[in-house]
Amino acid sequence: MNRRLLFTGLATSAAAWALLHTPRGRFSWPLRNATPRPVALITGASAGIGAEYARQLAARGFDLALVARRADRLYELARSLTAAHGVHCEVIAADLAHDEGVSLVEARIRAMDALAVLVNNAGFGTIGRLVNVDPGRQQEMIYLHVMAPMRLTQAALPGMMERRHGAIINVASVAAYWRFVGNVNYAATKAYLVAFSEGLQIELRGSGVHVQALCPGFTRTEFHHTEEFKKRQARQYPDFLWMSAEEVVRQSLDALGNGRVVIVPGLFYRALVLALRTPVLGETLMRVAGMVL
Ligand SMILES: NC(=O)c1ccc[n+]([C@@H]2O[C@H](COP(=O)([O-])OP(=O)(O)OC[C@H]3O[C@@H](n4cnc5c(N)ncnc54)[C@H](OP(=O)(O)O)[C@@H]3O)[C@@H](O)[C@H]2O)c1
Repeated sequence: MNRRLLFTGLATSAAAWALLHTPRGRFSWPLRNATPRPVALITGASAGIGAEYARQLAARGFDLALVARRADRLYELARSLTAAHGVHCEVIAADLAHDEGVSLVEARIRAMDALAVLVNNAGFGTIGRLVNVDPGRQQEMIYLHVMAPMRLTQAALPGMMERRHGAIINVASVAAYWRFVGNVNYAATKAYLVAFSEGLQIELRGSGVHVQALCPGFTRTEFHHTEEFKKRQARQYPDFLWMSAEEVVRQSLDALGNGRVVIVPGLFYRALVLALRTPVLGETLMRVAGMVL
């Protein structure tokens, strides 16, 4: 392996990483008893990371708009958060993998006059080479991971920019930096979310609106509970690879206060992403992992 190339790659990646992690102004958290209370809209709030955002943002004094398909779960979460924190929770049942559901939420966002945080979190994964997987399901994934966050962000921006206050959190993944055999669209849509967030933050510099691309690694949620993932689970990924949704969301919200764009929770995953972004080393790592996964 060419050492100079490796060194240049490492230095370039470190510089790019430092640049992306340079704070660009603080997100000002609302005061506890602010009136009207600021609103956080969270997609995919019926489970996992989205439900955890709802819990932590309610604890920080936000009213909530909870979006997902399973309304019963959203109402249950809404009841418990209202009881625990006295916040108002609106339930919006919508399928964001299709135009109709996104249009519904878009319209609701445009009518909100206190939206302070938008969390584009809803998502799912599939397993299987592109040639074999259901095309309809892949289309839904692309709509849910790409079109829905883009459209909801566009709907949220005018109000946030007018108020000069807001945060858009796009839940991407470490997969944004990885090229998987058997999961190409998942990685590609998450890479879109990272590029979208980085570019948008540059456009919004000085506007008072902050953008974050959260890139978690394996997180204990219902994401891997589907039949296809259960088969893969038999291989038993080691414990140290897993983080709790609580920790992932805590690191996301704490970092939002620091104004950073790309957030990778956990030291291990930060090191992994740094390595994956390093020319030669990243490709080597992916080749080696490709042989064992
Ligand atoms: N868990 C991980 O290891 C991991 C790692 C990296 C990134 N992520 C990302 O984290 C995000 C949240 O996933 P999670 O781990 O919390 O998984 P989860 O526990 O399965 O939750 C997924 C959420 O997305 C919602 N959702 C799925 N399809 C939807 C649709 N068509 N319309 C509206 N909502 C939909 C689900 O609600 P309904 O089914 O009720 O609609 C649910 O609330 C995803 O974007 C995922 O890619 C997860």
